[in-house]
Amino acid sequence: MKRVALIDIFNHPITQKYLQRSGIHHAVSTAEQAVTLAQEVGVDPDLAAKAALLHDVGHYEWYQDGQWDYDEYRKHDIHAIKGAERAHKLLIRLGEDATKAKTISIAILLHTDSYLPFSVDSLRTPLHDVVFRADEMEELPGGAHHYVTMDESEAKQRLTQLDKIILDQNDSKRSIS
Ligand SMILES: [Fe+2]
Repeated sequence: MKRVALIDIFNHPITQKYLQRSGIHHAVSTAEQAVTLAQEVGVDPDLAAKAALLHDVGHYEWYQDGQWDYDEYRKHDIHAIKGAERAHKLLIRLGEDATKAKTISIAILLHTDSYLPFSVDSLRTPLHDVVFRADEMEELPGGAHHYVTMDESEAKQRLTQLDKIILDQNDSKRSIS
């Protein structure tokens, strides 16, 4: 089965639509952090990168009179649930392996517990932890990380580079085993 590349995910209209809300810069940077962390702890960098790239596609804009309404957000946000479902649909549509699509979707579901009435801190697997930490590393006070800009050509160039890193790592693993 041919690997679904990060660049194919990025180019899809569904990704384009939802990454405009949560920020291309945040998505690409979190994917890069996730690959580095995954390599450090022995997690599959492909799963980590895809979950990180798509972790915030479930965001909805909570505006009140032109301003972000954090009270409303805290009360009603379910972006991880929406994101897990959107990412799963997108990955399956792109031809992702069904087992991988489920694993990535669950990593998105658990990348934060801000929407849950309990903490999942002690329940995260190494993959979940990589996505959680990569996101945390890229967060800025007041949600400002969602508004840092990155033009599309830079995003494509950085994701192509990340695809290459992931492929090289998978190739070297195959040649060892
Ligand atoms: Fe995030």
